[in-house]
Amino acid sequence: LWIVDKSVDKKKGYPQLIEAAHLLAENEVVAFPTETVYGLGGNAKSDEAVRKIFGAKGRPNDNPLIVHVASMEQLNEITVEIPKLAKTLINEFWPGPLTLILEKKEGVLSTSVTAGLRTVGVRMPDHPVALELIRASGVPIAAPSANTSGKPSPTTAKHVSDDLNGKIAGIVDGGPTGVGVESTVLDCTVSVPVILRPGGVTKEALEAVIGPIKEDAALKNQAVTPKSPGMKYTHYAPNAPLILIEGSREFFQQIVDQYKAEGKKVAVMVPEEHADDYQSDYLVRSGSLANLQSVAARLYDTLRTFNDLDVDIILAEVYPETGIGQAIMNRLHKAAGHQLIKEK
Ligand code: TXA
Ligand code: MG
Repeated sequence: LWIVDKSVDKKKGYPQLIEAAHLLAENEVVAFPTETVYGLGGNAKSDEAVRKIFGAKGRPNDNPLIVHVASMEQLNEITVEIPKLAKTLINEFWPGPLTLILEKKEGVLSTSVTAGLRTVGVRMPDHPVALELIRASGVPIAAPSANTSGKPSPTTAKHVSDDLNGKIAGIVDGGPTGVGVESTVLDCTVSVPVILRPGGVTKEALEAVIGPIKEDAALKNQAVTPKSPGMKYTHYAPNAPLILIEGSREFFQQIVDQYKAEGKKVAVMVPEEHADDYQSDYLVRSGSLANLQSVAARLYDTLRTFNDLDVDIILAEVYPETGIGQAIMNRLHKAAGHQLIKEK
């Protein structure tokens, strides 16, 4: 496994990416940074490359991959017609953390990219390394998050190598990613677009541009099967069980004390504003309540941190479900396997 850093040469751009682009063109798989999380990229037209992506991650075959493009030409190469609302969103949010589900053009992409669906998820990442790599490879790049299936998504090159060393051709290191949670997945094949996965572009921001949109009922109700295949799998879980606590800080501390009384080692995950309010074995700061983006940016690193601690149980505060808070809570609920204790 080789790791190249992004080292920008102002005149030459990113010369080291040429090697990574060659590997992609030869249907090898390479991890690269995007503005959300690291992706595990492969030629989206190649069955062989796509097979390697699923294999390295241990990803179920029914979970389709997002195709990353660097130009509108590439988008038009893989989709049929783009609805007006989708065009408006592309003008406003691309490049950026918004994946659009569109009708795919038959016979262009490897059929396993879309897991047999008639639609394709496409986005243009807002990261100079990602865009340059896609351009240099000359093909649309299929890329799921570059983690082992089920683990927290990677936001650093180290996270990627912790999971995938020995299973992939290389990693392009672009430093820590900025947004920290994955792209918003929006189904644009219906008259009123539907959020299938909350992410980097908030519902509020989307509605400010195209008016009211819907959310997949499965996001609020576990009994409903999600429209996005990937959303049904457990995900992001640390090794020790994680439980979300909703209520006052006094209530939270009572729960900590109950577990401690059972002889358990307890870690708490709390915003820095509340860091002095708890007594536990370990305390991990999640970021600032005054700036939920800071919680999102380090969320997956925070979840991975617990695996280095000798803990029996992790208790985490909940966050307001506005703006990026919606994506944060979606990931935390999954990481907790939907375990939540609510103050009466
Ligand atoms: O920010 C991101 O989106 C990152 C970076 C690397 O771009 N990628 C990412 O990919 O999160 P992945 O594979 O971990 O998540 C893709 C999600 C899954 O929930 C999948 O089911 C859904 O998008 N998806 C992909 N194609 C779809 C389609 N045609 N219809 C419905 N859902 C789709
Ligand atoms: Mg993923």
